[in-house]
Amino acid sequence: MTLQSQASSADKEVGGTLGQRVRAFAGHPLFRGDAQVLHEPNPYRRMLVPDALAESDFDRPPAAGQWSAHRSLAAHRLLGTFYEAETVLLPEQGLAELHDDFDLFYGTELRGLREGSLSELERFAFGCLDDAVDVSGATTREALDAYFQHVVAEAGAGPSPALKAIAEARDRESAADLYLVQLALDGLTEASAMSRNLAGAYGPEQSALFKIFIDEFGYGVYDAKHTTIFAKMLRSRAMATHVHAYWNFYLAGPLATNNYYYYLSRDHAKFFRYAGAVTYAEAIFAPAFVEMVKVFRDIFGDAVDLHYCDEHAHIDAHHGRITKEQVLLALADRHGPRVVPELLRGVAEARLVGGWFEEDTAAQIRWADDLSRHRELAGAAPTSDAPPGRIVLSPESPFGTRGHDDAMVLEIERGEADLIATPTGPAERLTRGDALLIPAGRLYGVKAVSPEAVCRLHTVTPSD
Ligand SMILES: [Fe+2]
Ligand SMILES: [Fe+2]
Repeated sequence: MTLQSQASSADKEVGGTLGQRVRAFAGHPLFRGDAQVLHEPNPYRRMLVPDALAESDFDRPPAAGQWSAHRSLAAHRLLGTFYEAETVLLPEQGLAELHDDFDLFYGTELRGLREGSLSELERFAFGCLDDAVDVSGATTREALDAYFQHVVAEAGAGPSPALKAIAEARDRESAADLYLVQLALDGLTEASAMSRNLAGAYGPEQSALFKIFIDEFGYGVYDAKHTTIFAKMLRSRAMATHVHAYWNFYLAGPLATNNYYYYLSRDHAKFFRYAGAVTYAEAIFAPAFVEMVKVFRDIFGDAVDLHYCDEHAHIDAHHGRITKEQVLLALADRHGPRVVPELLRGVAEARLVGGWFEEDTAAQIRWADDLSRHRELAGAAPTSDAPPGRIVLSPESPFGTRGHDDAMVLEIERGEADLIATPTGPAERLTRGDALLIPAGRLYGVKAVSPEAVCRLHTVTPSD
């Protein structure tokens, strides 16, 4: 069955292919970006890079190993925007200047496009998990418990690839900030996906989940809410704290990880899968934050506010126990062997998707930390004979970031431009004749610093 023919009747009402519908959405004025690298405090505007998105083939879902493909990044930017449009986002400074954007973001036109493509876009982005995870044969509580203990021990044995990349970077501060930005995706809207699993009537397991939820919300005290203490950590690094200042720097892997919990929470047929996934997440957070504190203290000493990490190193040890005993295993006991494969699937998928977060972040840190070597590598890279892509920019051009499915050589034909690959690190200034290798899947943006900059993009031919 093709993606197209699987479209639900709701999807079909809007008409057109998935590609046509998401291009219509991304082409809306809210999503075309502006000349700024960081987004203003306006949660309704986020750059979806409609020109680059138009290249994506939405008839070809990425496989599990293709999480860093450009169409995967494009799909997860869209999905993240769709999901957040189902939450309440209001700017800290008030709506006075932004009421028109509020009306557009939540309005019927974009809502129609979202609702008409969401299910199909989810299948596009997450369909690969069906084949990537095999849960056949796992039908007992004991098998579930054993598998869970195994994967949690494996995660705890560390080290985290992303934190390792930070520790080994030459510019550790910029590498650490790049990591903070990936956490900001969830950190600034924490537990929003979880909130969708609180309604209904499902017994003591519902209360256990609610207990975790109110911890995330600081028991109703704004200063103790996890998003508030996350913002404190960003502020201590002199970074912006609004949703989503660093939108252009969210990587495909972290976007997919964040979207995954919304994907499971939106469809209660996947409730047991959600229970497995959230149990895995809570169990691995505590040791991960212990490791993060060590790496960040080593870099910044006391100059960074790590209250957020200390809080999670403490409370997620507790949440890990509650979710395992009072949610995961309790659901298996109460509802019997038929729910076990779904619980287990949630654990396994969360582990897999969490791996994309780590690998993508580590790869971006390593590349962005070593751009001078990638200038050298550009000279030696064999490029295809096909005519190169050509980009003409001015300082007023909308700034957006993207990646490519193949390694590319970016070459400056005319003028001067900055290649930007990290949210806070120095830009790489390129002038006429300069070239730089962009490995497949790496995220970058180019900003003209002369009145006009012309760049050429050559595809690197694999040397096999
Ligand atoms: Fe939290
Ligand atoms: Fe937690």
